Amino acid sequence: MTSELSPMSAADWWRDAVIYQVYPRSFCASGGTGFGDLPGITQKLPELRKLGVDAVWLSPFYTSPQNDAGYDVADYCGVDSLFGTLADAEHLIQSAHDLDLRIIVDLVPNHSSSEHEWFKQALASPPGSPERERYMFRDGSGDGSEPPNNWQSVFGGPAWTRVVEADGTPGQWYLHLFDSTQPDFNWENPEVWDFFDDVLRFWLDRGVDGFRIDVAHGLMKVPGLPSLSPEDLADIRPDAQKPYWNQEKVHDVYRRWHRVLGEYGPDRILTAEAWVWPLESMAQYVREDEMQHAFNFAYLATSWQADNVKSVVDHSLSAFGAVGAPSTWVLSNHDVIRHSSRLAMGALESVVPGGLGPKSPEKPDPDVAMRRGRAATTFMLGLPGSSYLYQGEELGLPEVIEIPDDKREDPTFHRTNGERYGRDGCRVPIPWEKDAPAYGFSPSGDSWLPQPDTFGDLARDQQEGVEGSTLELYKTLLRLRKAEGLGRGELQWIATDSPDVLAYQNGGITVMCNFGDTPFDLPHGDVLASSESERDGTLQPGHAVWIQSAATE
Ligand code: GLC
Repeated sequence: MTSELSPMSAADWWRDAVIYQVYPRSFCASGGTGFGDLPGITQKLPELRKLGVDAVWLSPFYTSPQNDAGYDVADYCGVDSLFGTLADAEHLIQSAHDLDLRIIVDLVPNHSSSEHEWFKQALASPPGSPERERYMFRDGSGDGSEPPNNWQSVFGGPAWTRVVEADGTPGQWYLHLFDSTQPDFNWENPEVWDFFDDVLRFWLDRGVDGFRIDVAHGLMKVPGLPSLSPEDLADIRPDAQKPYWNQEKVHDVYRRWHRVLGEYGPDRILTAEAWVWPLESMAQYVREDEMQHAFNFAYLATSWQADNVKSVVDHSLSAFGAVGAPSTWVLSNHDVIRHSSRLAMGALESVVPGGLGPKSPEKPDPDVAMRRGRAATTFMLGLPGSSYLYQGEELGLPEVIEIPDDKREDPTFHRTNGERYGRDGCRVPIPWEKDAPAYGFSPSGDSWLPQPDTFGDLARDQQEGVEGSTLELYKTLLRLRKAEGLGRGELQWIATDSPDVLAYQNGGITVMCNFGDTPFDLPHGDVLASSESERDGTLQPGHAVWIQSAATE
């Protein structure tokens, strides 16, 4: 099955697109399982059309034991019964296209689930067999009872697990950069390349418009798999250099996939989830013959400080511009503390999946965080390039801190014995209606993570059509952004009298944001959008506006 978008949409639609991330298990449930599903998403697509986004990126809905919320894929071409059927996926794609919304699906090529047919075959086959060559099996060090090297899982604990051989004796070890149920593929093996070509084609044949590539920087490892120095081992920052991140050869994979997508027309895209620094390295993923987008994690990780924000914007525009790609902008996703909480916290360290929980030493002030969250989006959506939004941010949802330990599902929490809370706090099912069961998330009232009482007043039906609501702010920004062509525009900084206030002009719009603690007098001019309802001629702390440019000249 293929389904066509209207011929009006340009092949390079992605250069200025706003893409909305749906996290299927937490978006909308059509049944009573407490998990969102594909029919639920299809039902709500018109809301996303009304919001004004151009495309929807779906986190994985494939067959999976759900040990890492679906990022542990057991069948890349199957739909997990939790989410529906393949026919539901096809119907979703068609319905989105009917609304002129593009669909991006997630592709997880660094590892499969240990339930994948290939891994089961590998376990049943002897060391050195072709079945084992599809994954990263090695003999242990010393007498074989120690892991082959000292690499650690991103989720905590060792990155190696020892298997029991078919004859019942302790045997080889396999690498898993994430959970022990997520064995890494061996990308030195051409069979793995062919397999993923087929997976791409399977979903392209069903009409998808692109793929978000999970852990795009992880596929290739330094030959010999060298151990880390003690200092490198201790460094869990996402920008730390490691012998399994960002190896030159990963780019060959994306050049090949670029060609596969090209067979389906000029408008299909690849988006890199590549936590690599500096931005020039990230930009290597979006050279002309590779991907189209890379999530701008440098921007996401920037703290609430005017000079830091200004410099990351300049750096992004120059690094991506140098390879002819648009910069992307992103503030939230399913792996980081929601920005309507995070921006009242520290810097980079706070986005590492340590998460937030009842015993966290630092908790954001909810009012300060909410103001900054709205202001940050107002600042972001005026920038030239493409932006990613994460479900629920248009409602101003904060990170949920009070989740009981026994409800937490993130492997990070379990693999660190609760030392790191992990990412459940940004994954709580979103509220649609204040007075419905589970705030309209599921008809039975079930919800796989408990929703806090504060979600009632933040529900979509409480914000729809309400002036000053976060939802209406997002709609206004998205409408104006499109009408003024800001995504294709050019940024020009405007000097202000305060080091804490940034101002830039993009086409007919001037964007101003106050990152400091004292109010700032606004220039005269029509305020077209404001992150706060105060209209006293000042830009308050944690406040951003869009003003008609001509009036400021
Ligand atoms: C990516 C995903 C994250 C997942 C991990 C392992 O970082 O965004 O949710 O846990 O990869 O697949």
